[in-house]
Amino acid sequence: MTVISSEPLYAEFMKKTAKSKEFMQQAMQVMPGGVTANIKSFAPYPIVMKSGKGAYLTDLDGNRYIDYLLSYGALMLGHGHPAIIQAVQQQLAADGTSLFGTPHRLEVEMGRKIQQYYPSMEMIRYTNSGTEATLLAIRMAYAYTGKYKIAKFEGHYHGGYNQVLLSVNPPLEEAGPSSEPNAVIESKGVEPYQAENTIILPFNNLDACAEILRKRQHEIAAVMLEPAQAGFIPAEPDFLQGLRKVTEELGILLIFDEVKTGFRIGIGGAQAYYGVKPDITALGKVIGGGFPVGIIGGKKEIMMVSAPLAASDVFDASTSQKSSAKDVLFHSGTYNGHPTILSAGLAVLNVLEQEMDQVMARTEQLKTGIRQLFAQRGIAMQTVGLGTIFSVVITELEHVRNYRDLQKSNFELRKKIDFQLLAEGIYTKPLNRYSMSTAHGEEEISLTLEAYDKVLSRL
Ligand SMILES: Cc1ncc(COP(=O)(O)O)c(C=O)c1O
Repeated sequence: MTVISSEPLYAEFMKKTAKSKEFMQQAMQVMPGGVTANIKSFAPYPIVMKSGKGAYLTDLDGNRYIDYLLSYGALMLGHGHPAIIQAVQQQLAADGTSLFGTPHRLEVEMGRKIQQYYPSMEMIRYTNSGTEATLLAIRMAYAYTGKYKIAKFEGHYHGGYNQVLLSVNPPLEEAGPSSEPNAVIESKGVEPYQAENTIILPFNNLDACAEILRKRQHEIAAVMLEPAQAGFIPAEPDFLQGLRKVTEELGILLIFDEVKTGFRIGIGGAQAYYGVKPDITALGKVIGGGFPVGIIGGKKEIMMVSAPLAASDVFDASTSQKSSAKDVLFHSGTYNGHPTILSAGLAVLNVLEQEMDQVMARTEQLKTGIRQLFAQRGIAMQTVGLGTIFSVVITELEHVRNYRDLQKSNFELRKKIDFQLLAEGIYTKPLNRYSMSTAHGEEEISLTLEAYDKVLSRL
């Protein structure tokens, strides 16, 4: 059985969260590591939450936290926003059911909204998660180009499947040269051949990327990236524009994984912010309003590879039509385009259309306040991020441009601060980024800065 650590770093935390510890001991008997998603786990044990409201979470021990994790950025309106609750209740009542298994009005309504803010998504398909959206993006790229390898960037996460669980957070001893990183497999159970089929690129290094892509242009179907690495290290504008140009020149598709950056860097995501048009985009998180969703979209001629022909489905029983299935990219899912979830997503968009600017301004206010508090103590650091996401990076570097730069930052100190902040009621998973919501007002910002002040003065 997994043992719960009791390092001194955790002492204060453990004093306040006894019920979480007790719960996790039970959970470990039911689920490996006590969690149903590895990301939920951290040492000594995760805090177990009981309820949420607005910007706040309450845990099993009754401690209240201002939530900056926001379910890894998904909850852009905070917890339990009345517009979402109302939309979901009304949709269920109007539909009289939770699911039809047929086309639904909201699939088109949401599609048109997405196209308004993401015009590069000329046609779209719905999935149930960001993982499924990027997975489908890769299959689309293979189908469209007839090539069967992808390139991704060191430090970038695209979901939990075999083609992309490489070099997300690789040990530096295994990561290879910074200008031509090794493909490091980062999960048990991933076939060794994935390291041959997924090519790793260095972020924000255009010359090195161009060289790798040129060498392997006949193998690579697509380059996929998070326009802000891990949601917060921004692509440099010249880099992103250059990458667009090189991929176009070489017949390689460009996939923006905007699962984190979509509706967060701005309502139109990174592509609107940078003015760079990808061939395919994957969205998720915010657009589900806290419910599971993904959307993939792109150029019409690419997306049309998935348009069903007559009897072209793997499940079609008619033998005469069978061969046509090979001419179509198969994409399906019992819950795709779930009407209740689309109603929640549309409610999110309605609120963001009014309040996005304010969330952006408040994020800047919080970032500035945190930087000032560190500066008063002479601790070199940066708030790295665009729009409504950022991370606190304790570093002497002037620019944090990629995974290798981030590894030079002081994770130990950041972790120490994070645990003390948890004890002061400021929640994010230790070492994680901060996401903001429409529910984070002046009061929450003041309380957060007070907590930072207290914690930094104790260091
Ligand atoms: C950039 C990015 N892509 C894909 C995913 C996977 O999305 P999901 O967790 O909804 O499957 C995530 C999740 O954190 C992500 O941040």
